[in-house]
Amino acid sequence: MLFYKEEAMVLLWVLLHLILLSLTAAHSQQTLPGCQDKCGNVTVPYPFGLVGNSSCYRPLMDISCNYSSNPPKLFLSTGTVEVLEISLLGQVRINHSIAWDCYEDGVRTNRFDTWTNMFKYPYTFSDTLNRFIAIGCDTLAFITGSNGPEYTGGCVSLCNSQESITEGSCSGIGCCETSIPKGIKSFTVNISSFHNHNRIRKFNPCSFAFIVDKDGYNFSGSDLLNFQGRTRVPAVLDWAIGEKSCEEVQRGEDYACGNNSHCFNATNGPGYLCRCIEGYQGNPYLPDGCQYIDECADKNRKVCEGICTNTLGSYNCSCPPGTYDEVVQDKLRCIPSPPVINAVKNRFLVWQVALGMGLGLLFLLVGSSCLYWGVEKRRLFKLKAEFFQKNGGMLLQQQMSNREGTVESTKIFTAEELEKATNNYDESRILGRGGYGTVYKGILPNDNIVAVKKSKLVDETQIEQFINEVVILSQINHRNVVKLLGCCLETEVPLLIYECVNNGTLFHHIHDEGHVASLSWETRLTIAAETAGALAYLHSAASIPIIHRDIKSTNILLDENYRARVSDFGASRLVPLDQTQLTTLVQGTLGYLDPEYFQTSQLTEKSDVYSFGIVLMELLTGKKALSFERPEQERNLSMHFVSAMKQNRLFEILEERVVQEGSQEQILEIAELAKRCVRLNGDERPTMKEVAMEVEGLWRLGKHPWVQQEPQETELLLGEPSDSSDYNTTGYDSLKDHVILSLGGGR
Ligand SMILES: *[C@@H]1O[C@H](CO)[C@@H](O)[C@H](O)[C@H]1NC(C)=O
Ligand SMILES: *[C@@H]1O[C@H](CO)[C@@H](O)[C@H](O)[C@H]1NC(C)=O
Ligand SMILES: *[C@@H]1O[C@H](CO)[C@@H](O)[C@H](O)[C@H]1NC(C)=O
Ligand SMILES: *[C@@H]1O[C@H](CO)[C@@H](O)[C@H](O)[C@H]1NC(C)=O
Ligand SMILES: *[C@@H]1O[C@H](CO)[C@@H](O)[C@H](O)[C@H]1NC(C)=O
Ligand SMILES: *[C@@H]1O[C@H](CO)[C@@H](O)[C@H](O)[C@H]1NC(C)=O
Ligand SMILES: *[C@@H]1O[C@H](CO)[C@@H](O)[C@H](O)[C@H]1NC(C)=O
Ligand SMILES: *[C@@H]1O[C@H](CO)[C@@H](O)[C@H](O)[C@H]1NC(C)=O
Ligand SMILES: *[C@@H]1O[C@H](CO)[C@@H](O)[C@H](O)[C@H]1NC(C)=O
Repeated sequence: MLFYKEEAMVLLWVLLHLILLSLTAAHSQQTLPGCQDKCGNVTVPYPFGLVGNSSCYRPLMDISCNYSSNPPKLFLSTGTVEVLEISLLGQVRINHSIAWDCYEDGVRTNRFDTWTNMFKYPYTFSDTLNRFIAIGCDTLAFITGSNGPEYTGGCVSLCNSQESITEGSCSGIGCCETSIPKGIKSFTVNISSFHNHNRIRKFNPCSFAFIVDKDGYNFSGSDLLNFQGRTRVPAVLDWAIGEKSCEEVQRGEDYACGNNSHCFNATNGPGYLCRCIEGYQGNPYLPDGCQYIDECADKNRKVCEGICTNTLGSYNCSCPPGTYDEVVQDKLRCIPSPPVINAVKNRFLVWQVALGMGLGLLFLLVGSSCLYWGVEKRRLFKLKAEFFQKNGGMLLQQQMSNREGTVESTKIFTAEELEKATNNYDESRILGRGGYGTVYKGILPNDNIVAVKKSKLVDETQIEQFINEVVILSQINHRNVVKLLGCCLETEVPLLIYECVNNGTLFHHIHDEGHVASLSWETRLTIAAETAGALAYLHSAASIPIIHRDIKSTNILLDENYRARVSDFGASRLVPLDQTQLTTLVQGTLGYLDPEYFQTSQLTEKSDVYSFGIVLMELLTGKKALSFERPEQERNLSMHFVSAMKQNRLFEILEERVVQEGSQEQILEIAELAKRCVRLNGDERPTMKEVAMEVEGLWRLGKHPWVQQEPQETELLLGEPSDSSDYNTTGYDSLKDHVILSLGGGR
């Protein structure tokens, strides 16, 4: 969690805002069905209701609405107390009269306030939210009331001159105050003076006294003259349901609290109140007023871009791994971890400068076409451009411009196109999830079915691999190499679009449960021949030799006719023609990794030969390249295989079906070839071309003459996946068991 103080504040603000919003939203359903819920613009929530229909309010909780004024005025059922606001938390704000005592021209006039006897009504003056205040410079104010026992309180306020007044301070000079006790349901206010205001009549002819909302009045010296002509001040009444406590009323006939609410005793007098239980909100007095709050489901107020988990009363927003959360424009967003951006930016600074102009033009072009789309679209565009840069758009541009003409077939898809093609990345379109990505089935407007690989997160090595894969695949046009159709850089994580090869990986067909021994010897030979052919092509025929670096059975995809497609070029390397070896970080998959390369970090074509040798062994034995389930000396397939051959036990470790279907001569020849492929000394291994010729020779030999076909004519079919749950995506995305060892240093 990379929270900064301001961001935390913003988040807090957002949350507060949410709570406020939800409170207002909860006002929508506040009365029983069929009852009027408003007088003017004051809401009258149940258990209150407007007079006229006694089933719309609980006993004695009626409110009358007088339309003769504008806006209309509300009154408590007693008819004299003006209501300003009703709160379901147990309060009613009223506009209450004040008492005064005046000595003008030697004549005393007064009005001593009397509060209607409210003993039979559910209202009590709030002791916590009100004060009793008296204003005057010769003033003695009493409040006499009954909260059961008789009670008298009061305060004295004196002053000699207007100068002695402190504005805003009600501490006995010009103004005095006192709190009031609990439970006041009836009272009278009486004001008297010591000297009939004789010496101070010029600036203070009258005394005033009233009960007022704690925050509803601030003393001002000018009030001493005539209290600004005011006759009423706001005060707060507590209300409660009935006269009984929760214990007495619960489960009774007349229980007022609805579903998902609980009862609590009123604190100021008898009766009880209801409140929604945690996680619910609404009007607890309505049968089903308390509604579950599912913050995550509320699309309008969604502040969480990450993983939203609804909790009781709140929600939990967390970001997926590899991202951190940040509040952007009042929303919690999940931002890919910052090192990516920095690393890429720094590394490719030079290219950025070089490309600046070209890219500027590009953005201008794209930008101008986006101008129509208004502010929101522009913001989106900015975001996309950001992603484009972040996702290695520049690197790709650079790579593409370096190899002019070779990438025309690679299309850069837009985010919208892919959203449409994958039905907005619908769950049902998932072909499978790999080590660090998800592969979706996409249907392009021309009905072509494609595989869309979406990596989970982006870090530096992955960006490089991603660009690498795009560049390499776009060089290659071979029927046994998976075809890259394009990519999309505008989204948060880069997307790769492949032809859809939908029959799983070779690994799946050899090793997965239910598939053991499912491949015939002939199919195995075909797959071996095709894979060898593809690799030989990569090593010699492509415009620049390519070393795959990660040949393994999970990287060989099969189509419905069991034709092989070599895939996953994330780790591959282009070898400049004047070099035959490269020093690289050792990278590959345990079990397939060339030990010589492992030791020296010298990458040559022979590393692929070694890995292919292991694949041959897999095809022959049906055993995994590396398995910790096997006894120690058999764990490593290559050693196991070679030692079995030495001991003349080869046929003991081969898969039964292979032994049954293949001729002994063929099998021995392939086994011998595999053994040569995995020689420790790379120089002693055959080249991929020799391997391909040899395997192909055997394959042709094994075929019936009339089946022999011209492979060039085999059309690539883009078809429906036979069973998506069966689908193994590791072919597109196989870094699960991939190792990167930093032994040799950089290139
Ligand atoms: C009184 O309110 C109830 C709903 O609580 C409604 O069904 C009824 O029709 C109302 N009666 C009149 C006369 O409005
Ligand atoms: C109530 O309505 C009047 C005008 O009809 C408006 O001036 C006043 O601000 C409103 N009060 C509230 C609390 O919305
Ligand atoms: C409404 O108020 C006016 C004046 O404020 C008063 O004359 C009238 O009687 C009131 N109507 C009702 C129904 O209370
Ligand atoms: C309270 O009543 C007085 C006098 O009737 C009126 O002038 C004042 O506007 C009322 N206060 C509110 C907040 O409505
Ligand atoms: C007010 O108080 C004075 C003295 O305490 C008393 O004489 C007078 O009767 C009281 N008036 C009323 C209306 O209660
Ligand atoms: C009284 O003063 C406080 C702060 O000095 C202010 O927040 C409040 O709104 C004032 N109340 C009135 C009724 O003016
Ligand atoms: C509610 O009030 C009753 C009677 O006054 C008392 O017995 C009971 O304990 C109170 N309940 C709570 C939860 O305070
Ligand atoms: C609470 O809800 C259930 C089911 O929605 C309903 O059967 C029951 O009558 C409700 N109880 C109250 C007190 O409204
Ligand atoms: C929120 O989710 C994260 C990740 O799932 C978890 O670590 C954290 O404890 C959760 N927080 C709460 C309050 O549930």
